[in-house]
This record gives sequence, C-alpha cells and structure tokens, in this order.
Amino acid sequence: MKPDAIFLTADGSKTIYSERFGEYYHSTHGAANESNHVFIEAGYLATLVHPVSVLETGFGTGLNAWLSLQQASRLRRRTFYETIERYPINSTTVSELTDDTVFRSLHNATWEEPVEITPWFVLLKRNSDMLFAEFSRKFDLVYFDAFSPAVQPEMWTHDIFARLYEAMNPNAILTTYCAKGIVRRTLQNVGFGVERLPGPTGKREILRARK
Ligand SMILES: C[S@@+](CC[C@H](N)C(=O)[O-])C[C@H]1O[C@@H](n2cnc3c(N)ncnc32)[C@H](O)[C@@H]1O
Repeated sequence: MKPDAIFLTADGSKTIYSERFGEYYHSTHGAANESNHVFIEAGYLATLVHPVSVLETGFGTGLNAWLSLQQASRLRRRTFYETIERYPINSTTVSELTDDTVFRSLHNATWEEPVEITPWFVLLKRNSDMLFAEFSRKFDLVYFDAFSPAVQPEMWTHDIFARLYEAMNPNAILTTYCAKGIVRRTLQNVGFGVERLPGPTGKREILRARK
C-alpha cells in the first residue's frame, strides 16, 4: 500500500488522503474549518460540563485533539480526552503534517496511558479497534469522526451507537459531520434526540445527538 499523502485544504490547513479507505481524513474545503465547526462549536463549546470528558473515534491527524486542547487552555477547562485509533499515522507523516511543538506532543504521547499534555488537557490514546473497544469511563461528549458510511459502513451501526450511548452521561452529546438519513434514524432508534445543524463550507448539514 502506498504511504498516505498530505493534502493542503482550501482554508490552508492540512489533511491526509487514506489509501486504505480511499477517502480524505477531512473535508477538502477546509480541514480546520470543518473540525472547528463540527466538533468544537457544535460539541466542545455546546456543553458546559466542567471538567469535561471527551471520546473520539479515530485520532488520525490529531486535529480534533489539538483544537480541543487550545480551547481547554483558553477556557481553563479541565479536559480528559480519550481517543480510539486502529491505524496510527507514522512519524514521517506527522513531521510533514505540522511543525507545531504542542501538536507534535500529542502524537509523541505514549499510547494506552493518560498523559498530561498541559495542565488543562489529559490525553489517553488507545490503539484499539472501535468495533470492539471498551471505554475507560463515561463521557460528556463524543466526537464521532469515522470515515464515511460509504467506505466504512461497519462503524455507523446500531451496535456501535448503542455502545456509545451506554458510555455517555445523561445529557451528553455526540456530534458528527455525517447527516445521512440512515445515520440520523439509527441514532434515534438507539434513543438519542437528534438535531440537524447547518454544516461547514461544502456541506449542507451535520448531526448532533443528545442522550
Ligand atoms: C475520518 S478520519 C478522522 C481522524 C481524526 N479525527 C482527525 O482529526 O484527523 C477516521 C479515523 O478513524 C480511524 N479508524 C478507521 N477504522 C477504525 C477502527 N475500526 N477503529 C478505530 N479507528 C479506526 C482511521 O485510521 C482514521 O484515523
């Protein structure tokens, strides 16, 4: 398999093209713009719980974690961030992706144990398969950032969303960039209340689900 290629998106931020899944990690209209819109504004800033515990499906480039860390510092909000990643990117790709020291420290952090990256941000990276993962605690916020249902249908099932529902505190929210009707109905069948919100550039809608 060819190594994953770095791609410059329309807002000047970088993403990766996955050869394994045949899909970009983020919107080519703007990776940072999309992550900020879907996960930070509709998620991290939409829940007032403090301290807050976040679960992410797919650490990938670390962009969602990095943006969350910046918000945690700005708001002085203690954040526990657990992320499940089956296929971590390699160190060459990380060095091409960013020269920011803090961003790199997220990638350099030891796997399988909580690491205090800043006084406000503790990261627990787990090299596991989301299909079988068990979670270390209950969460206030879930960033559901799998590849799309078209290329990874096994990630968007009733079973996965039901396990996430069980792992969430009452009133916790789950955000995702995918607004497909089948995903919305699956979330509703699991028991979530689901809203459609306006999407970032290049996307009409996103979903936010509340337990
Ligand atoms: C759309 S990308 C998003 C990555 C990340 N949130 C970011 O900001 O770059 C999906 C991620 O899920 C990971 N992934 C794919 N299948 C997985 C699985 N079964 N379990 C855990 N992670 C998986 C991929 O390797 C990839 O990093």
